[in-house]
Amino acid sequence: MASRAQVAVYPGTFDPVTHGHVDIVERASRVFERVIVAVYDGGERASKRPLFSGEERVSLARESLCQFGNVSVDTFNELLVDYCNAVGAGTIVRGLRAVSDFEYEFQLAHMYQHLDPELEVVCLMTRSDHSFISSSIIREVASLGGAVNDLVPPPVAAALSQRFKGAGL
Ligand code: COA
Repeated sequence: MASRAQVAVYPGTFDPVTHGHVDIVERASRVFERVIVAVYDGGERASKRPLFSGEERVSLARESLCQFGNVSVDTFNELLVDYCNAVGAGTIVRGLRAVSDFEYEFQLAHMYQHLDPELEVVCLMTRSDHSFISSSIIREVASLGGAVNDLVPPPVAAALSQRFKGAGL
């Protein structure tokens, strides 16, 4: 059985999952024995109003990450530290795209560690050619008919095209 530190949770809204996220999952899957991609579905409490429902984000992530044998996808709606304890994870993985991400990640990491000093936060660097991608920029470009097919996994490209039918994706 994997030790707690070797079970990592990669949390996020994943609205939707992009090649940048897949890159982080791939790296994490090489470092940890088990990686749980945890889709935050905070409902009314969440600060973001997602385009895709929680179930849609989970199934898009599952379809996009099925090539990794030690990666699973789950959803959570409580404090991340409580979720990590419930699933026996000792590490939180986060992706860093640019220096501008650092301040927010620093704040999050300190809050997670304030809430549970036993948890470790590990940040992995996103590949430089993915460093400009964010889910909101993908949603905006897709909604206006711009091509994003090379920036997201095929199931996500299909879902965006379906959602913004007529926008000329
Ligand atoms: N490649 C591409 N895009 C990336 C990326 C990567 N490697 N890493 C992050 N992003 C993008 C995301 O798509 C997202 O884009 P958007 O804001 O344009 O939609 C943006 O960067 C921010 O992503 P992230 O930092 O993962 O934030 P999030 O909102 O997706 O996730 C939670 C934040 C869910 C992890 C955090 O709010 C949380 O832990 N919530 C649970 C409740 C809790 O415990 N709260 C207390 C926190 S201390």
